Amino acid sequence: ASYDTAGHAHFLIKEISEQPSAVERTLSGRVDERFATAHLGGLNLDAREARAFRRVKILGCGSAYYSGELGAQLIEELARIPAHAEPASEFRYRNPVIEADTLYIAVSQSGETYDTLAAVQEIKRKGGRVLGVVNTVGSAIARECDGGVYLHAGPEISVASTKAFTSTAVAFALIALHFGRVHDLSPADGRRICAGLKALPGQIREILAKEEEIAKLAAQYAQNAGMMFVGRVRGWPVAREGAQKLKEVSYVHAEAYPASELKHGPLALIGPELPTVAVVPDDELVEKNLTTMGEIRARHGRVLMVGHTAPDPKYAEDCILIPKNEPELDPILLGIPLQLLAYHAAVALERDVDKPRNLAKSVTVE
Ligand code: G6P
Repeated sequence: ASYDTAGHAHFLIKEISEQPSAVERTLSGRVDERFATAHLGGLNLDAREARAFRRVKILGCGSAYYSGELGAQLIEELARIPAHAEPASEFRYRNPVIEADTLYIAVSQSGETYDTLAAVQEIKRKGGRVLGVVNTVGSAIARECDGGVYLHAGPEISVASTKAFTSTAVAFALIALHFGRVHDLSPADGRRICAGLKALPGQIREILAKEEEIAKLAAQYAQNAGMMFVGRVRGWPVAREGAQKLKEVSYVHAEAYPASELKHGPLALIGPELPTVAVVPDDELVEKNLTTMGEIRARHGRVLMVGHTAPDPKYAEDCILIPKNEPELDPILLGIPLQLLAYHAAVALERDVDKPRNLAKSVTVE
C-alpha cells in the first residue's frame, strides 16, 4: 500500500490528528459496560490463569517502553498487581530471572524491533508466558507471543510514535480493567473506567482543537537550547514520553525527571535559560506539583504547565489546559498536548519532522 499525508503537512501531524479514531478502534468491541470489564479474547488466559500471576513485567523500546510505564501504572492501580516496565534492550542482555508467576508483556508498534523480539525469545526459552501489545498484525513479535492485544491504530509512518503510543496506553487500560475485575476492582469502579474509556476519543478531539494555541507556545519554547520535563507518579511516564518526543523531532535537548527528584540534583540546572514543562494531573499530588513549580519559579525558571485546572499565575507563565477524565486515565490525555508541542517545535525549527536524523522507524537489527 502507498500512503500519503492526506492534506496534512506531515505524517506526524496526520497521525496525531488520527488519534480519536485510532483510540475508537483500540476500544471497539472490548468495553463491556454491563459487566464493567473488558473483553480481550486474544490474551488466551481464563479467569483462573489471569488471577494466578503475582507480577507483570512490561518490555519495549523507545516510546513503546514509555507507554509500557503508563501500562505498568494502570495495572498496579486497577488490578493491584505489582507491575514494572523495563527497556527490552536492557532486559535481554542481563540474563533475566524468568518467573513462572510473572506475566511478561512485550510492546511494539511495528512488531519487528529486534531487541524486543530477542527479549520475547529469551523469556520463551526460559519457559515464561509472554503476551504482545502490538500494532502490526502478523508481525514477528505478534507471532512469537503466546497471545496479546492488537492496537488497530492503523499504519504509523512518521518515525516518532504518537497514535501507537496513545493506543498502547488505551490497550493497557483495557488489560488493567480486565485484570482488575478478576481481582478486586469493584463493579462500580469498573463502570467508572468503562465510561472514562468511552469518553477518551471526544476528549482527544477537544485537545486537538487547541493546536493553534499550542503551536504558538511551541514556537517560543523551541528557541531554548533545552527543556526540563517533570511529573509525579501518574504524570511521570507522560513527562518522559514528552521529553522523548521533543528531542526526537526538534533536536532540542530535553530531560525528564520525577518532580520529586528535582531537588536531589537537577534543580542546579534551573534558571531563565532552561524552561520546564510540568505535567500536572488533577489528583492528590496537585499541591506537591505546585510546590515544585514554585521552586522552579523562585529560581527564575519559566514553567509551562500541562494540566486540567489553571493554577495561581505565580506558579506558571503558561498553561495548556485539557479536559479531565478519570484520574487513572488522565495520563493518556496529558500526553497529547506534548505531542503537539514537539511537532510544532520541530516545524518552527524546520526539522525533518517525519524522518529525524539518525533514527529509523523500526530497528530490526541488533
Ligand atoms: C525506534 C523508533 C521509536 C520507537 C522504537 C520502538 O527506535 O525510532 O520511535 O518507539 O523504535 O518501536 P516499536 O515498533 O517496537 O514500537
